[in-house]
Amino acid sequence: MGTPQLPNGEADLSFVKYAAQEIGRAMNSYKVICVKSTVPVGTNDKIAEWIKACYTGRFDLASLPEFLREGSAIHDTLHPDRVVIGANSESAIELLTRTDSFIQSHSPGYLCYIGLNLFTNVRDLINKGNFCGQKCIRSFLRAGIGYGGSCFPKDTKALIQIAGNIEYDFKLLKSVVEVNNSQYSKIVEKLQQALGNLAGRTVGVWGLAFKPDTDDVRESPALQIIKALIKLGVKLNLYDPVAMNNFRRIYDHPSMTWCDSALQAAENCDAVCLLTEWREFVEVDLASIKSAMSGVVLIDGRNTILAEKARTLGFSYYPIGRPALQSQSNIPECV
Ligand SMILES: NC(=O)c1ccc[n+]([C@@H]2O[C@H](COP(=O)([O-])OP(=O)(O)OC[C@H]3O[C@@H](n4cnc5c(N)ncnc54)[C@H](O)[C@@H]3O)[C@@H](O)[C@H]2O)c1
Repeated sequence: MGTPQLPNGEADLSFVKYAAQEIGRAMNSYKVICVKSTVPVGTNDKIAEWIKACYTGRFDLASLPEFLREGSAIHDTLHPDRVVIGANSESAIELLTRTDSFIQSHSPGYLCYIGLNLFTNVRDLINKGNFCGQKCIRSFLRAGIGYGGSCFPKDTKALIQIAGNIEYDFKLLKSVVEVNNSQYSKIVEKLQQALGNLAGRTVGVWGLAFKPDTDDVRESPALQIIKALIKLGVKLNLYDPVAMNNFRRIYDHPSMTWCDSALQAAENCDAVCLLTEWREFVEVDLASIKSAMSGVVLIDGRNTILAEKARTLGFSYYPIGRPALQSQSNIPECV
């Protein structure tokens, strides 16, 4: 069940508590209870207390953290590339290892999980390249406008909070959050460098979800970017294959036009910004897009479009973390 973030950065454990009490009331013999929600270190002790208040028999608790990705949850559940178990009881570990091939960890599973998420967050920002063998982590090794969604931002802030509780100043993780929070401004800066004053300009936005293959817009970088552009007087044409309704529920504005396709969102635009790397955008017919636009600026917030192809077609192409490719020599270069 969900463990949303409280205003102070801590995880809200009320759903977990309620479920633990329900489990306690329902138990009638030895059981191993696996915690898959993302919870702070030490939560299993609390869960044990909540269960014990309702059930006096023997039971064991194990951490079995979730590594699935939104958009491919069923595949990732059936074909995990790693499983972490955190448990003190040999019988619980034996029971859990009997059914699968596991990477065992006798340290608390959650710490191991959070460590992997932290690693992923750092990689997401610095784009070190393709040196890691695991498919799940490798898929995050790209520079871009930053992470979002319901898990990474929440887990990262929760770990900073946990570190604070033991008076540890987690500078690395704080910097990750800080850099991620400022990453969205790259899009605004690139638009300003390409177009100058943005007031009255029309910009097409491709992608509102925090990542492809999901309609989840929670903490999506698109939200910060869109709000910043509206403040600067930009008119926006928005398109996402599935996340438009969710986005519209959290933010709408008279300067925004909701479009039915990537092509429609590009029509008569001075610039188009790709914010989510949906396959549809990666494979888009760039020649038709170019003809539909009034300008030539293409900002690729996820480095997914073939840069040379874009330049050959006459776009001024601005990726993230790499030099721009200009179709006209008088447009300033920005990284
Ligand atoms: N979404 C992800 O990709 C992902 C990945 C890894 C870990 N997690 C973690 O998994 C947890 C759940 O995330 P989510 O995205 O699935 O949340 P969610 O809000 O989509 O789903 C939570 C579900 O729990 C159910 N629930 C709440 N109380 C219950 C109870 N007492 N008994 C039975 N069901 C109950 C709710 O009805 C809901 O369907 C969170 O701690 C999250 O951090 C999520």
